[in-house]
Amino acid sequence: MRSIRVFKRKKEPITMITAYDYVSAKVAELAGIDSILVGDSLGMVIAGDDSTLNVSMDQMVYHLNYVRNGAPNTFVIADMPYLSYKISPMEAVRNAGRLIQAGKADAVKIEGGIEVCRLIKKMVFADIPVMGHIGLTPQGILKFGRYKKIGKNEEESEYLIESAVAMEKAGVFSIVLESIPESVGKEITEHIKIPTIGIGAGRYTNGQILVWHDVLGFYDKLKPRFSKAYKDLWNESVEGISNFIKDVKEKKFPDEDHL
Ligand code: KIV
Repeated sequence: MRSIRVFKRKKEPITMITAYDYVSAKVAELAGIDSILVGDSLGMVIAGDDSTLNVSMDQMVYHLNYVRNGAPNTFVIADMPYLSYKISPMEAVRNAGRLIQAGKADAVKIEGGIEVCRLIKKMVFADIPVMGHIGLTPQGILKFGRYKKIGKNEEESEYLIESAVAMEKAGVFSIVLESIPESVGKEITEHIKIPTIGIGAGRYTNGQILVWHDVLGFYDKLKPRFSKAYKDLWNESVEGISNFIKDVKEKKFPDEDHL
């Protein structure tokens, strides 16, 4: 994996996708993705919960190992789950270290702005590469009340820009910008040297990330307006299984070729 900074220097867009197991990771690596995020979105797209809040450290380690089996040659970033880092810097470093050692991740990602900079510094001091995540931070759902765009007024956009600058100074190697106005995504990207990765942050970020299930049309609940489905795996899967059921009921399966 080339250093993520090289992409920004060369003005080459960075591609990232989430993955959660051997199959999703292998498919992403075969397609040539630049980096994989084992997101705590697994609470929603894998477990079927309505938020990411119930994902545990044990679950992250479990999924990380399967992703590593599927994508041995890809830069893998591990999401730090809800309450695994904001309690204390010591817990943040311990849990981040576990995602690297037991989960075989290359880096971790945490949500939050200026207020998490002291945690970032401790993790970077412990030689753990950290990615930031600002804008709509899904772990703050109880505070936000719903998943919505952040940074629409001056106070919010100033906070986002100040956060990005402070986080770069604290040592993150890249920042995810989620669900913010395109103009704010552009301003942040121009303000800092490290690459920005957008999800619903417009065209001017240094890269784009989407959730695996959204890219492949494999999730029935939330369909964010900013994500694009390049396949319709949901309906294709229902159709495939329906055909199997029909063949069995009609005694057409197993046939001669599948005895
Ligand atoms: O958990 C996740 O999938 C994420 C991405 C949406 C950036 O944090």
